[in-house]
Amino acid sequence: MFTPYQIRSIEQYQLDYAQSVEKPEEFWGNIAEHFVWRKKWDPVLNWNFKEPNIEWFPGAKLNITENCLDRHLPALGDQPALVFEPNDPKDDHRVLTYKELHFKVMQFANVLKNNGIKKGDRVCLYMGMVPELAIAVLACARIGAVHSVIFGGFSAQSIADRIQDAQACAVITQDGALRGNKIIPLKSVVDDALMACPTVQRVIVATHARVPVSMLKGRDCWWEDEIKKVETQGNPFCPAEEMDAEDLLFILYTSGSTGKPKGVVHTCGGYMVWANYTFVNVFQYQRGWTHFCTADIGWITGHTYILYGPLSAGATSLMFEGIPTWPDAGRFWDIVEKHHVELFYTAPTAIRSLMAFGDAPLTGKKLNSLKVLGTVGEPINQEAWHWYDDRIGANQCPIVDTWWQTETGGILISNLAGVTPSKPTFATYPLPGVQPVLVDENGVELEGNNVSGNLCIKFPWPGILRTTYGDHERCRQTYFSTYDNLYFTGDGCLRDEEGRYRITGRVDDVLNVSGHRIGTAEVENAINRHAGVVESAVVGYPHPIKGQGIYAYVIFNGMHEDEELTRQDIHQTVARIIGSIAKPDKIQFVEGLPKTRSGKIMRRILRKIAEGELENLGDTSTLLDPSVVADIQQGRLV
Ligand code: PRX
Repeated sequence: MFTPYQIRSIEQYQLDYAQSVEKPEEFWGNIAEHFVWRKKWDPVLNWNFKEPNIEWFPGAKLNITENCLDRHLPALGDQPALVFEPNDPKDDHRVLTYKELHFKVMQFANVLKNNGIKKGDRVCLYMGMVPELAIAVLACARIGAVHSVIFGGFSAQSIADRIQDAQACAVITQDGALRGNKIIPLKSVVDDALMACPTVQRVIVATHARVPVSMLKGRDCWWEDEIKKVETQGNPFCPAEEMDAEDLLFILYTSGSTGKPKGVVHTCGGYMVWANYTFVNVFQYQRGWTHFCTADIGWITGHTYILYGPLSAGATSLMFEGIPTWPDAGRFWDIVEKHHVELFYTAPTAIRSLMAFGDAPLTGKKLNSLKVLGTVGEPINQEAWHWYDDRIGANQCPIVDTWWQTETGGILISNLAGVTPSKPTFATYPLPGVQPVLVDENGVELEGNNVSGNLCIKFPWPGILRTTYGDHERCRQTYFSTYDNLYFTGDGCLRDEEGRYRITGRVDDVLNVSGHRIGTAEVENAINRHAGVVESAVVGYPHPIKGQGIYAYVIFNGMHEDEELTRQDIHQTVARIIGSIAKPDKIQFVEGLPKTRSGKIMRRILRKIAEGELENLGDTSTLLDPSVVADIQQGRLV
């Protein structure tokens, strides 16, 4: 069974696309009719990219959880909403039907209320991939609190920065998270973070890994105890707070060109419509299918395609706690077989790392439940695409290459599974409502096909970010000021002879390491905090598994005799300031950095050296001291 607004043929795609461009308000107004609103909108859209000010469905009232839970109860109440596959395959999996999830969300929403949390408050979540995370996210949405999920790999310092920026009043966490054979002591990391966060009044701690934690009197409480209190209060019901379509739903921090992550803001109405519309159309979801998105809910992919997209569509969404390579590299495929997964959505970096194990982990695995495969997060290379197609999809499953960003809320450019054709390494065509343009550095639009330039979007779609939390000017500058009246994505892109889009990677100082977005300035700031570091410069380089690796050039004072020890010290510093995900893959100690006379580091040269291109470094005549280049070339780490 399909959803009424599902595009089922190329012709329909073309018609819908044309209508979405010619009459966007009519088009999205019609789609929005398929959701539950307490009050309808008027008009459908107000917008300008100058300020920017973007409002979708202004005046409308809704609660996203009524769309993700309550409305499914009559027909789908007993269908699994969430399937939780634990880290250890020896442990039992858990299933929460729509009825059960609805119940648990209301219960925890009452816990939040009991703890003084109310509409508009910001709540940070620092958890592993456990059902309680999904429950907590939805419970926030239920009462209108703004959730900000922080990926479990970030350090105490990163958590503190985010909590302070969001002025959060509460944190929800768990004792420890299980990842492969490791236990991550989440609560203890939160404790370190909170030393610098006076706004936090309450910490709710779920028990999971059963590692010892310190509980501060008056501030910390156990999830389970709070649930018991709600049970004794006797009323399991928690009405959904009525939200304006443009009220904040969540903040999600992401990296940009500067050293400071920014809080991307999404609102209730437009985001909901976009998450749902893209989910059902791109993946061609059919009722009853199980969707396994391997992302973490700490990233936008998890928000949109583990939670809000699938749940608003009444799908069964699978949450996996562990890692793809533990206990062995067949773990994903065991899960697909065990739960009869139809939709499988992962990142190229995961595909490449599993591909490196060869065919053995696939032997005997029954993958014939699979109907659609997807990739997201970074450009996929030919080899990985074909391996995915041959070995996982048995050449029977369309692969959707979905391009989008934290800021876009959901997928913007992708083929539609089995409906519009795929082309390896191409995201292909824009979804209805998405009007991409390519521009040169001067902002001149490159018309026609067979061109490449910077990717911009010239009209708002319902899921576009509304602001960066607490700093609207930063939002304007980052996305809407580079080119007049255009949203600038930060990505380079080419359009082929048939108008299909291929994303070629970031054109700013943002790296994409294993599908994680990391700003070079952020990593430099972290490295520079080490007492011995005089200066550093960070660039990306092609990495066979991670897509991009982090290459750091560091001027260091007072090196250990053993260079390796100094490297480890720097790693430790980066892990403390940002988190292990930002540790440089290579650290080259240098005497000087190539700088122009005005003191600007010429990263272009450093990038080329890191990439292994030792000749054709381009014009070096403007360098203050060209001799540093030869030294750096000599010391290059292979
Ligand atoms: O460079 C693009 C790359 O990931 C960036 C967005 O990162 P983030 O906000 O963390 O969101 C990742 C998940 C949506 C983009 O600017 N990117 C994402 N998807 C693709 C991609 N690059 C190429 N192909 C894709 N399918």
